[in-house]
Amino acid sequence: MATLAHPAQDFTVLPQLPADVFTAPLKKPAHVGEDWVEPAQTAYTSEDHRIWDDLFTRQMKVLPGRAASAFMAGLERLDLGRGGVPEFGRLSEDLGALTGWSVVPVPMLIPDHVFFWHLANRRFPAGNFIRTRETFDYIQEPDVFHDVFGHVPMLTDPVFADYMQEYGRAGWKAMRYNRLKALGALYWYTVEFGLIEEAPGDIRAYGAGILSGPTEVVYATSAESPNRIMLNVDRVMRTDYVISDLQPTYFVIESFEDLYRQTVERDFDRLYRSLAPGFTYANSAVIDVDNVLNRGTQEYLLRGGRGSMAKPV
Ligand SMILES: [Fe+2]
Repeated sequence: MATLAHPAQDFTVLPQLPADVFTAPLKKPAHVGEDWVEPAQTAYTSEDHRIWDDLFTRQMKVLPGRAASAFMAGLERLDLGRGGVPEFGRLSEDLGALTGWSVVPVPMLIPDHVFFWHLANRRFPAGNFIRTRETFDYIQEPDVFHDVFGHVPMLTDPVFADYMQEYGRAGWKAMRYNRLKALGALYWYTVEFGLIEEAPGDIRAYGAGILSGPTEVVYATSAESPNRIMLNVDRVMRTDYVISDLQPTYFVIESFEDLYRQTVERDFDRLYRSLAPGFTYANSAVIDVDNVLNRGTQEYLLRGGRGSMAKPV
């Protein structure tokens, strides 16, 4: 468990942040406590439930053969396609029996240190609201479909579930070193946009940002534009990322055991001390040390990306 988290940190209660640690100033709504957990999940309308069902159906047309086997197994074990937005209580019971995780409803944005604390205690904070028909195809803020459909199935995988907990524990150290951006890049390129090579040439997606939309799952696994590079934690934590468009680069793992090992075995104190405050590498860069699986053409990016209506080829 090397140095990812501070060994003496107690996560049973929300740890106090040292005064010199900066966190984004978010105003806590009056109805939530220090844990930022909503008193109850939203009461969804029948149209909300229909939107979930339609999103589910759309994803199931593109995911088989492209989503990681662990994700597909998780979807099935949690029966997320039984109809309507899943009830978090029932979901937490099923998930708890498998890996000890639960799902708790939170407002759209919660402070980093509270987010990390929930993960460290195997609670996944999920947004309550669901998108509308108007924003059916693309929303930038994570809704309940992204959070539950995209993230929760992977929490049924025991090794990935451990990785997520370690990530939460790691957040506190990153805050003390003022290197949250770097740790955020690791989350981005694994939990949100990670790929896994399940067999030689068989590239699947396990990242929730890919799996909760119809376009990126095809683009990430089979388009010619993006780079696909084997994951190297030091390199990833120095790499910039875009939040509003398809990724120019994806990082690929061999297995979840490999991801877990690469992360928890790093000397994070040394890493944080050696990192520049900003990112070193552009998100489309390929560098000398990279173990490149496919070097992308970057055609999509060069044609202007989403803003120019470029085709995701
Ligand atoms: Fe997410």
